[in-house]
Amino acid sequence: MVRAFAALWAAFSSVSISNLVPWAFVSPAHDTFELEKSWGVYSPFHAVEEYIPPPAGCQISQVNIIHRHGARFPSESQTEDILSGVNKLQSAERYTDSRLDFLNTFVYPLGENLLVPLGAMQSFESGETAFHRYSSLVTPDDIPFVRASSMSRVVETSKNWTAGFAAASNHSYYPPLSVIISEEGNDTLQDNNCPTLVPSSHKEMTQWLDVYGPPITARLNSWAPGANLDNKDIHGLLMLCAFHTVASVPYGYDPGSPLPFSPFCPLFTQAEFESFAYSSDLDRYYSTGPGGHLGRVQGVGYTNELLARLTASPVVDHTSTNTTLDSDPDTFPLNRTIYADFTHDAPLMAVFNTLGLFPTPKLNTRQPKSNRIWQTSNIMTFSSRMVVEKLVCDATVRGRDVSDTYVRIMVNEVVQPLAFCGAQKNGPWRGLCQFDAFLESQAYARHDGNGDWEKCFA
Ligand SMILES: *[C@@H]1O[C@H](CO)[C@@H](O)[C@H](O)[C@H]1NC(C)=O
Ligand SMILES: *[C@@H]1O[C@H](CO)[C@@H](O)[C@H](O)[C@H]1NC(C)=O
Ligand SMILES: *[C@@H]1O[C@H](CO)[C@@H](O)[C@H](O)[C@H]1NC(C)=O
Ligand SMILES: *[C@@H]1O[C@H](CO)[C@@H](O)[C@H](O)[C@H]1NC(C)=O
Ligand SMILES: *[C@@H]1O[C@H](CO)[C@@H](O)[C@H](O)[C@H]1NC(C)=O
Repeated sequence: MVRAFAALWAAFSSVSISNLVPWAFVSPAHDTFELEKSWGVYSPFHAVEEYIPPPAGCQISQVNIIHRHGARFPSESQTEDILSGVNKLQSAERYTDSRLDFLNTFVYPLGENLLVPLGAMQSFESGETAFHRYSSLVTPDDIPFVRASSMSRVVETSKNWTAGFAAASNHSYYPPLSVIISEEGNDTLQDNNCPTLVPSSHKEMTQWLDVYGPPITARLNSWAPGANLDNKDIHGLLMLCAFHTVASVPYGYDPGSPLPFSPFCPLFTQAEFESFAYSSDLDRYYSTGPGGHLGRVQGVGYTNELLARLTASPVVDHTSTNTTLDSDPDTFPLNRTIYADFTHDAPLMAVFNTLGLFPTPKLNTRQPKSNRIWQTSNIMTFSSRMVVEKLVCDATVRGRDVSDTYVRIMVNEVVQPLAFCGAQKNGPWRGLCQFDAFLESQAYARHDGNGDWEKCFA
């Protein structure tokens, strides 16, 4: 909290602290609040836990990484929503609160869609981490096999990751980006192959915005008489705090130092950012998450590719895989040890959903549960990554021989419970599923989505 506070106020030395009522970020109940972790899918990457090495007696024999692109500029439609609010605020006759005074000289500085330096740096660091963690698996003949979906920000993310991997190895190993999968065709790293899939979270987000938006709209309208902001503008301005901040981080930024928070951030309270994060949770839950119609089946193609790699056998899939790519050892080898795939948030969410991670009962659109596991600020930040490790163990636990092959999954370093394949809940063997039990648990993918894929074309 201290870090977030200090940065927030320090970043605006032009705004005298004495002019500001620091009610905005004071909340005795949440003294661990960090602003940048309340932006949902627009939060920059942070490790939610520290990585836990496998239990004694276990060796990692294969690693599969699927990685969201790093921090980016807003999309075209997000830019429209953002500019609507900014223009209305700038058209006000005057400001009654000094927090808005910066708007007298503010010129909107953001581009669209592309990766920003922070996104590139966090992807580079991710590549460094992968090398440090898994270097014992790398040999001159066996370097990571890397694929990316074709959108620029995803390709740039993958290249920064490979550059980080190379740098960490003192340039001994430079994994090429071997396959760029076109988003115009069958692409297991994008959710573009299902014509009847309609991103359906709009209704749920609007219901929630109608709950938390009005008091904010009223306050900002009272600070900017004549602006006539509506609730939708508030959502845009909250997004702008996140996008403007991540875009303001320069190359060479020290990851331990405070973020240069946007002057739009102090317009909102901690509770309001928590509401904004919930809006992001609802958005993803009701699109390719568990609440979305035909969301889960979008993760089947990648999951079947994962099963193929884990078992070193050809891909069996009749959903979004490109059979031309996946039947050719040059574009889909089965004899590597580390695989890294680069994608977007919606398809990665679908993969979580296919596998059965983050089981979450229906999210209420009027009342968030504060202890929910479904928090996009942890599970789907920019540069989020899921890592599937295959482990070969030669060990005894409390006198019992548990030598076997296992699978475990980390999302942003958090070991997933994998209750669906019988993993232990606690202790050093927490989250390890017996290999065959894991394969068995993936029946939905192995059966091409139990009839859901056909609904994409019906
Ligand atoms: C994988 O197979 C290819 C083609 O047979 C071969 O050229 C390559 O050396 C193999 N790589 C490893 C790591 O075994
Ligand atoms: C990393 O990403 C940045 C921003 O998109 C890009 O300009 C740069 O070329 C990338 N680095 C590499 C090594 O590709
Ligand atoms: C890279 O070089 C540094 C400095 O010479 C050395 O400490 C480190 O062990 C090297 N790392 C690898 C992976 O070779
Ligand atoms: C499959 O991949 C090949 C090779 O990249 C490409 O030429 C083809 O258009 C793709 N087909 C589909 C349906 O995506
Ligand atoms: C692309 O996907 C469609 C739908 O699943 C499938 O019918 C087609 O064979 C696939 N094409 C390739 C080249 O894999």
